[in-house]
Amino acid sequence: MYGVVFQFLQEFVINNQDEQTWSTLLEKSGIGHKVYFSMVEYPDDEAIKLILTAADMLNLPPITLLEAFGEDIGPKLLSNYHFYIEKGWRTVEILKYIQNNIHQMLVNGNNRRKPPTIHLYDVPDQPDTYELVYQSHRRLCPVVKGIITGLCNHFDDQFDVKEHQCMHQGHLDCRFYLTQQGSNRVHVA
Ligand code: HEM
Repeated sequence: MYGVVFQFLQEFVINNQDEQTWSTLLEKSGIGHKVYFSMVEYPDDEAIKLILTAADMLNLPPITLLEAFGEDIGPKLLSNYHFYIEKGWRTVEILKYIQNNIHQMLVNGNNRRKPPTIHLYDVPDQPDTYELVYQSHRRLCPVVKGIITGLCNHFDDQFDVKEHQCMHQGHLDCRFYLTQQGSNRVHVA
C-alpha cells in the first residue's frame, strides 16, 4: 500500500492522541522509527500490524478503529485529490465515479498502485437504495463503510449504510446497501 495511506493513519493517530502515541505505536508494531513517503510503496502487512497494535493499545475492536479511520479520511481524500472531483459531485457521484474516474486514474498514472474495485448500482424496485460492491485482496470493508460515512458527513448527505455480504465470511466481494434518507436521488445505472 502506498505511503499516502500510512500518512493518513499517522495524522489520524496524532490528531486523536498525540505524537508520542504514534512513536509508541511504531515501536510496539515492531517497525521502529520510520518516516512514510506518499509515493513509496510499503508492505500491506505493515499497515495491518499498525492497525492491530493501535486497536490493542486503545482497547478497541480493529473493525471499530478501521471504520473511524475511514470516516476521518473521507473528507481528506476530497481535499488532497480535489483535481479528481468535479464541481457538484456529492457522496453518490463520488461513489459512482470512484472506479473509472478516481481509482483507475491512479492506476493510469502508476500501474504499481492496487486500489480496490468499487462499483455502485441502482437496486431494482427500491428507488431509495443503491448497492455498493467492494472487492480487494486487502478486505478492508470497514474502511469503505467509514469513508462513506465521512463523505456523508462532509456533504451533509443522509444514508443508512448496511453491509449485507462480506469477504470475511467467505464471499468473493463485500456488498453494502445504501439507503437514502433525503430526496437527492441520482440514477446510476
Ligand atoms: C477522492 C477520492 C479517492 C482517492 C483519491 C482515493 C485514493 C486511494 C489511494 C491512493 C489508495 C491506495 C492505493 C495503493 O496503495 O495502491 C486507495 C485505497 C483505498 N481506497 Fe480510495 N480513494 C478515493 C476514494 C475512495 C472511496 C470513496 C472509497 C470507498 C467508498 C475508497 C476506498 C478505498 C479503500 C478501501 C482502499 C484501501 C485499499 C484496498 O481496499 O485495497 N476510496 N484509495
